Amino acid sequence: MPITATPLSPALGAEIGGADIAAGIDDADFAAIESAWHKSALILLRDQHIDEDQQVAFGARFGPLAPWSRFADKVPTEGGRNPYIMLVTNIQENGAYIGTLPEGDIEFHSDGIYVEEPLAATMLHCITPTTHGGETAFANMYAAYDALPAGLKSRIDGRKALHAFTYNSTRATDNEQRKTNPDDVARCVHPVVRAHPVTGRKALYVNRLMTQEIVGLPPDESRDILAILFDHIETPAFIYEHRWRAGDVLLWDNRCLAHARRDFPPTETRLMKRLTIQGTRPF
Ligand SMILES: [Fe+2]
Repeated sequence: MPITATPLSPALGAEIGGADIAAGIDDADFAAIESAWHKSALILLRDQHIDEDQQVAFGARFGPLAPWSRFADKVPTEGGRNPYIMLVTNIQENGAYIGTLPEGDIEFHSDGIYVEEPLAATMLHCITPTTHGGETAFANMYAAYDALPAGLKSRIDGRKALHAFTYNSTRATDNEQRKTNPDDVARCVHPVVRAHPVTGRKALYVNRLMTQEIVGLPPDESRDILAILFDHIETPAFIYEHRWRAGDVLLWDNRCLAHARRDFPPTETRLMKRLTIQGTRPF
């Protein structure tokens, strides 16, 4: 069956048809999938029945994998887990969470923006979806940049922004915690507008959860511009919101998308298996 790519929304994303990861994907079909990914920034493969090794092998075809254990000393772990698969879940065993990011909403962000070489991409394999809530929203940062007024573009082009993150903070209001515990924070400076290393297109590269300030601007001006950009990024026209089903394998590009998790009741069970692709320094 030939590979197909059907748009998921006007904003971004494509659902891939004709691909069964467990059965194997040959090089020509993979090239079609990779091309759809670069074009759409997000790809979804439904109804995939794969184990962790198969997820890792498929993920590694998109680029070098990043071990999930960068924060291994900060998160609850089990011994002997696959070093590339992080459990994103609220499941507990013996009174402790077995994974990370267990609860509720997570504001818009880009995975790993707070380190020198941020993650290029993230893949989630949905094992247990919620019955309601827990959707992931994605914002097209190419489109967000393109739609900015020329005057605002000229104020941010060539500027850099400071990003910071503490692993268990999921809301921008946690910024106070970052200021009071500066040693516990990963932080990095990157261009406010980055060029995608494959497509060459420009994308906004700031977000509500992790971006602290635009470097070199008076604090008031930095705060005002970022407030405008954060609201702009979350304009519905730039957003695709994904409702998860068991068996979904979804890969998104952190270099040109921001994403957020919607709230869900603590009575729901949610389990995702996450892997990440290493990126290069933004320019
Ligand atoms: Fe994330």
